[in-house]
Amino acid sequence: MSAPLYEADIDLGPLKSRRIALIGYGNHGRSHALNMRDMGVTSIAIGLRDGSASIDKARADGFEPVGLADAVKDADVIAILAADEAHKAIWDAHVAPNRKPGVAVIFSHGFSIDYGLIEPPADCDVILAAAKGPGGAVRTSFEKGGGLVGFWGVHQDASGEAEAVAKAYLAVIGCGRAGIYPTTFKEEALADILGEQAVLVGGMCALAREGFEQLVAAGISERMAYIDTVHELKYIADLIHERGIHGMYAAISDTAEFGAHEVEDPIREAVRPVFEAIVKDVTAGNFARRWVADFDQDRAGLYEKRASAKDHPLEAAGAEIRKAVTRRSEP
Ligand SMILES: NC(=O)c1ccc[n+]([C@@H]2O[C@H](COP(=O)([O-])OP(=O)(O)OC[C@H]3O[C@@H](n4cnc5c(N)ncnc54)[C@H](OP(=O)(O)O)[C@@H]3O)[C@@H](O)[C@H]2O)c1
Repeated sequence: MSAPLYEADIDLGPLKSRRIALIGYGNHGRSHALNMRDMGVTSIAIGLRDGSASIDKARADGFEPVGLADAVKDADVIAILAADEAHKAIWDAHVAPNRKPGVAVIFSHGFSIDYGLIEPPADCDVILAAAKGPGGAVRTSFEKGGGLVGFWGVHQDASGEAEAVAKAYLAVIGCGRAGIYPTTFKEEALADILGEQAVLVGGMCALAREGFEQLVAAGISERMAYIDTVHELKYIADLIHERGIHGMYAAISDTAEFGAHEVEDPIREAVRPVFEAIVKDVTAGNFARRWVADFDQDRAGLYEKRASAKDHPLEAAGAEIRKAVTRRSEP
């Protein structure tokens, strides 16, 4: 593994001397804007769509947001921090017709470039600057003196300065405090999507729901089933975050560890074909195309799935437990 770069290793000049447009003021957009301002970047334009719900938030933070075309037209660097599924529409309608020649375009996820949703012309630098984690954590960790691990990649280097801009961008959003590493759009896109689909979100929720349902079918109360399959996830996740999987095993009971080692292999064998199918689906760009097609249908598929997930019986059990825990913890 290559050694990480830290703030002291990185020249911030390539970024501080340029006009930067941040497209979107959601979790990442807001955190990037605030961190780079605190790091001494002075020329920041926040570009928002007409009627954006984030206008007041940006103003409250001391920015004066402008329309997407206005943000883009004078920018030397454009960071597209809007929702991935909207990137192509934003690019076609606002960035492509208004950008300056030779502009550097930054993405925080490999999605739009690796799956071919956007194909920037050859005169653009096309850069990946990914702070790895939820956007809110980019700011909260920075405020505590830290940062998120950052990965940079270059898809097109028209100016010869794309790598320097990528590293400087990550440094001004705080990643230079946690470590900055090279990657590619392809690597970041697959790792991020496989991780969230198969393990962190889809996989974890599937296991939790299945465990809950099995326990309830075995006659266990919903309250107890929820605590043992969902509520306690946080304690295990915190241990893994702090100590790794091996360290977590060392911190739990031997009974839990012995049983977990016994069932890990059969569970892995059961999910392996599903994971392999996800890798193929994502790598071929099929997931990206389905998601953008759903976005074009006003996210009808997402909203339908979200509504049916909300009705799962574990939600009511969870709400009751959270309420009881909160009441007991209040002074
Ligand atoms: N590398 C990583 O580990 C990582 C982790 C998380 C996210 N990301 C990436 O960060 C980027 C932003 O994610 P996020 O979590 O910050 O998203 P978010 O909180 O949902 O914010 C999305 C922003 O996009 C804007 N937007 C959505 N649709 C738009 C449209 N059609 N036209 C114009 N603006 C639109 C929203 O505008 P309004 O304010 O008007 O609603 C909002 O400001 C994505 O590319 C995502 O993949 C990377």
